[in-house]
Amino acid sequence: MYIKKITVISAITVAIAATAIGGGHSPIEQRQAAMKAVGGQMRTLGGMAQGKVAYDDFAAISALEIMRDAAMTARPLFPSGTEMGFETRAKPEIWAEGSEFDAIMGQLIANLDAAIAAEPADLASYRPLFGAVAGTCKACHEKYRAPEN
Ligand code: HEC
Repeated sequence: MYIKKITVISAITVAIAATAIGGGHSPIEQRQAAMKAVGGQMRTLGGMAQGKVAYDDFAAISALEIMRDAAMTARPLFPSGTEMGFETRAKPEIWAEGSEFDAIMGQLIANLDAAIAAEPADLASYRPLFGAVAGTCKACHEKYRAPEN
């Protein structure tokens, strides 16, 4: 009973978050907006990893949290039936038999959770955590995102 309630509440929260971030109506527009929100944090996170921006643990952890929420919003926005539409860069392989798409999205969220939980106090401890996060972006895009045209 209790667990059921939590599931319902979190489903509603995800739906609300998707609407808030998405703005658009179709899942394609909503997931693109959510992925944009994921990407939006790369400036801060990547900049710090590359030493272009001074490392600030509060800013890093906040950005990781925003990215995790956006990734969790994006995750259910790839329902089957949304593989068509010229405006999407999502490849049909996402919905194919044996697809690792959801597993990689889960890995991104797990890597973000781990980075947040570690509360990296300095650049040296932050870098490998960020590396694991960025590795999942690349792994998924290479396989499941079409190039820009
Ligand atoms: C599990 C797969 C997956 C992971 C992990 C992933 N992405 Fe994506 N991303 C996609 C797909 C698929 C699209 C294209 C969505 C569409 O066009 O419908 C996309 C689109 C994007 C876009 C373009 C959004 C737009 O339409 O303007 C950005 C920016 C982006 N991703 C950044 C990131 C970053 C940064 C990470 C890692 C922190 C990441 N993504 C992780 C699959 C993934």
